[in-house]
Amino acid sequence: MATRLFATKPISTILAEASEAGEHTLKRALGPINLITLGIGAIIGAGIFVLTGTAAAQFAGPAIVLSFVIAGVGCVFAGLCYSEFASMIPIAGSAYTYGYATMGELVAWIIGWALVLEYAFGAATVAVGWSGYVTSLLGSFGMKLPFNPTPSLSLSFFGHPYAAHVDIFALSAIIVITIILVVGVRESANFNSGAVIVKVSVLLIFIGLAIVFAFGHWHHMVANWHPFIPKNLGHFGEFGWSGIMRAAGVVFFAYIGFDAVSTAAQEAKNPQRDLPFGILGSLIICTILYIIVSGLLTGLKSYTTLNVAAPVADGAAAIGVQWGVWLIDLGAIAGLASVMLVMLLGQSRVLYTMSHDGLFWNWACKIHPRFRTPYITSIAVGTFVAFLAAFFPIAFLGELVSLGTLLAFTIVCLGVWVMRMKQPDLPRPFRTPWVPLVPICGMVVSLALMLSLDAPAWIGFGIWLVVGQIIYFTYSRKHSRVQKALAEGSAQAPDAVVRG
Ligand code: ALA
Repeated sequence: MATRLFATKPISTILAEASEAGEHTLKRALGPINLITLGIGAIIGAGIFVLTGTAAAQFAGPAIVLSFVIAGVGCVFAGLCYSEFASMIPIAGSAYTYGYATMGELVAWIIGWALVLEYAFGAATVAVGWSGYVTSLLGSFGMKLPFNPTPSLSLSFFGHPYAAHVDIFALSAIIVITIILVVGVRESANFNSGAVIVKVSVLLIFIGLAIVFAFGHWHHMVANWHPFIPKNLGHFGEFGWSGIMRAAGVVFFAYIGFDAVSTAAQEAKNPQRDLPFGILGSLIICTILYIIVSGLLTGLKSYTTLNVAAPVADGAAAIGVQWGVWLIDLGAIAGLASVMLVMLLGQSRVLYTMSHDGLFWNWACKIHPRFRTPYITSIAVGTFVAFLAAFFPIAFLGELVSLGTLLAFTIVCLGVWVMRMKQPDLPRPFRTPWVPLVPICGMVVSLALMLSLDAPAWIGFGIWLVVGQIIYFTYSRKHSRVQKALAEGSAQAPDAVVRG
């Protein structure tokens, strides 16, 4: 079968699939509030609770607030483009399907494969951070564990022995969350809502405590905010404006996740109306919270002291309230748990869609007849992520997550523009304003943030894409439903566009 690498999937086929119903399909159980909490669930996590301090101490100083504004505005451009696609073709494949409809199969496959970096690697990164917070909270209560949570294991890699540290807490967290995901989307959304209520309340309490403290210690705060933009130390990225940009690249991680709302498209009751609300609503709420929290934090403590594992908890300690420290730890634990849940949910839905299209193995689109969840994919993804979280270092995983996400953002922004030119009359319940300006800004910001990331992450990213290509050329293109329809000239894909 001759393969058309750039064959696009017809919108009519996508819409027909999205409207299928019955026990073999995903269950429509989520309303607008569920979707906004899913977004907040995925966004607030390790980024604000951990990276804020590191980025302020090493790169931006009190101007970390500006880094949050820059990264937030960049995400709003991408969020607007995601909202247009999500309302136009509300399907669980998210960026992967948007790419399939606009730029063709090969590009779609690359995005789907890059999304594994965002969702699966993202969940693994956060699981490791979660485990650190649990150990520290238990420690602050004076509890000593009867076992070592990270025992080392002697392994051999191509004949070279090395000691891996198995993270038992991270492993257990992923197993429990996978079980919740298998049992049902409503159960998962309820778990997520509980965690979101805890983490948002904790951040609001922190803000309240810090504002009260600021009234009594205004000079202390002002002294810490000065100089607002510390002078550049002579190298790119070490304070000054270049430092603000570099910190924006780091805290971008804090915003990752709002796009996961679009993977719940086939589980939303009214996706056309509610998906843009969930994506943009959660993004705006979190941007405001991040700006306020980071601003207050650098007032409470000098930025030079913030390069620690739990900077927000340290901020509460500076106010002098010990219960505040425990509360922040608790907020981080709840927060990171919900990030893992939404990331794992997003990953299983993307693979489900790829499998439905024939680009991924068939088991991935099996739906449990009672739970109505893609249970085999959820278990497979959980096992893979548990393995990653248990054995790999967190910093390396984190940068790969950002690269994968930014590639997807770039292609979604480009896709909105391409689609406006190719099919201007298609109904768009939500329209991105000022096209092509907004998509271009989204692409420029995403590419600039990608370039600010380190070489080892790029090498890992390159290897990941090569592995993806091997799978595509040995399996996916031979099983692709769009390719089959084109080869047979069947009515399944009557308006498929062929460009390759
Ligand atoms: N935005 C998520 C976090 O900060 C990935 O943990």
